Amino acid sequence: MKVLMVCLGNICRSPLAEGILRSKAEEGNLAIEVDSCGTAAYHVGERPDPRSISKANDYAIDISMLKGRQFKKSDFDAFDLILTMDRYNQMDILQLAGNNEQREKVKLILSYSNEHEEKDVPDPYYGGVQGFEQVYQLLDEACDRFIEKEIND
Ligand code: 4NP
Repeated sequence: MKVLMVCLGNICRSPLAEGILRSKAEEGNLAIEVDSCGTAAYHVGERPDPRSISKANDYAIDISMLKGRQFKKSDFDAFDLILTMDRYNQMDILQLAGNNEQREKVKLILSYSNEHEEKDVPDPYYGGVQGFEQVYQLLDEACDRFIEKEIND
């Protein structure tokens, strides 16, 4: 299963999501490959935001080597699932889809969550460090449910 995590800048939320899911896949010896990207090109080639690197590090996950890239249409065929952090990312990706097979690959990552009515992972870029802990917790739970539903079923 090849999974692509998508946010706006590919420096805050989706690199964390990539690191969390990869870590769970490695721990569980699961056949999941994971990558991440942004809908925007603002931060192409950049490392994740230092606050995301630091938050991942708090949970023994290393995302310091990741580099930002922008979503490209060939990602629709290269990945089995495209998990967006919020509804704006989802709309942007859906606009690039060329057919139903591609559209059906696009899901909100929090659609897997049992706990959260709010289906968007909040953008922590302009907020404080606490926002990154909240993002981490949302993604950690959603990735657990994702594995239960898509991998262990
Ligand atoms: P991300 O956060 O989409 O979670 O990576 C953002 C990063 C950068 C910007 C916005 C959101 N920006 O406007 O540069």
